[in-house]
Amino acid sequence: MLSTNDNEILTRVGPGTPMGAVLRRYWTPALLSDELPEPAGVPVRVRLLGEDLVAFRDRTGRVGLIQENCPHRGASLYFGRNEDGPGGTCGLRCPYHGWQFDADGRCIDMPSEPPTSSFKERVTARTYPTHESGGIVWTYMGPPDTMTPFRDFGTESLPEDLRVAAKLQCYCSWLQTMEGNVDTAHISWLHSWPGANDITDDGSDKPGYPSNRLTWKFWAHDRAPRLEVHDTWYGFRYAGVRETPNGHTNVRITEYIFPYSTIIAAVPYNTSHLMVVPIDDHNCWRFTFESSRMPNPAGHGGDPLFSFGPFARPGGRRPGGITPRNYLAEADYNIDREVQRTTTFSGVADFVSQDLMVTESMGPIYDRSQERLGTIDKAIIRMRQGLLRAAKALADDPSAPLPALPGPGHDFRSLRGTDKILEDGEDWRLLGTDDDPAIREAGAVPPPLPEPQPSAGD
Ligand code: FES
Ligand SMILES: [Fe+2]
Repeated sequence: MLSTNDNEILTRVGPGTPMGAVLRRYWTPALLSDELPEPAGVPVRVRLLGEDLVAFRDRTGRVGLIQENCPHRGASLYFGRNEDGPGGTCGLRCPYHGWQFDADGRCIDMPSEPPTSSFKERVTARTYPTHESGGIVWTYMGPPDTMTPFRDFGTESLPEDLRVAAKLQCYCSWLQTMEGNVDTAHISWLHSWPGANDITDDGSDKPGYPSNRLTWKFWAHDRAPRLEVHDTWYGFRYAGVRETPNGHTNVRITEYIFPYSTIIAAVPYNTSHLMVVPIDDHNCWRFTFESSRMPNPAGHGGDPLFSFGPFARPGGRRPGGITPRNYLAEADYNIDREVQRTTTFSGVADFVSQDLMVTESMGPIYDRSQERLGTIDKAIIRMRQGLLRAAKALADDPSAPLPALPGPGHDFRSLRGTDKILEDGEDWRLLGTDDDPAIREAGAVPPPLPEPQPSAGD
């Protein structure tokens, strides 16, 4: 349970709000690179942290992120012309009176004023710097004098063939979506089906990496996992501890990277981020992107998780694209009551839409003063505590230090989710880190960080 005031702090993200100030101190996904496929192409509307913006790729290939309303009298620059300007410049020209702005927000042409006028030198549009990495256009929306370095999760050196990013809109507060991502207990309920208990043991229910197929059974077998949370410099990692049918200890380890990213547990390990970016107080994007190649020379896990089970593949995700919302609240997420009665716990066919059903059905912003939290909510509580601490500290002191920023020993490329059955005496906190022998054997430890660290903006 949260106080109404703390709930407000956590969920309000617009300009001038405490949480909005925290989120603006981190480079954040704004849109997919593929949404701006060509120079001088069609602009895209972007609503981010409650601000209406327009993204455009200018003739030189550079991405501008500019206030939607023209500084003159407010027409939407989305309807503007992305074209060359005078003297070799280029940018977005307003359709109303022809004022033109470049990617830095400078007014490069004001043809409606007399040629002798110097007015255009005194007009600027609000823009935010951008940086493309891993198939995503990132931006920094905080004060320029406190700009933090870009966090390289591995995307800066990601091979072209791995640059896969996607986004899916959720019609609820970013915090509700985030809470679902650090709530491992719900996979034993929302995402379960009774038939999983009948999956035969393929011999991998023993210390080591289980098959993906058998993990479905583990979730169904132990439906009240114990949560253990381990604080780290970037947030925390936590384990959902379950007893397997053969009496072993299965740990599902998920990374939480402050303020809004997770790397979900997977066999043998996962480096794909699930980053929840607020559109405004009531909507958010689920961005997913790859951060590194995942060598798995031993073939741990066998066939992929979603080659088993009764569910549709998560989200109908497509490389580089916006995942369509085929399951909506208006249609009750296409819930099939007969399937729910006989086959699956939720009755919703699509795995991710099962999550959307529960998080969106709380309403746009749930009143957390009405909650009754249990032991399974331990990671959610820890996440909220960290967010509240940062929001209050920054509100008190704009120079307060924030967590999970680049610094000595902070290598964001070494974060991995993992899923394993523990050997006798094995410490789960080590699993999936660079110190995990399995990571070393797989050749997955990244090379040393380049010096200096990757610079922001391009
Ligand atoms: S409103 Fe944009 S130029 Fe007039
Ligand atoms: Fe889920």
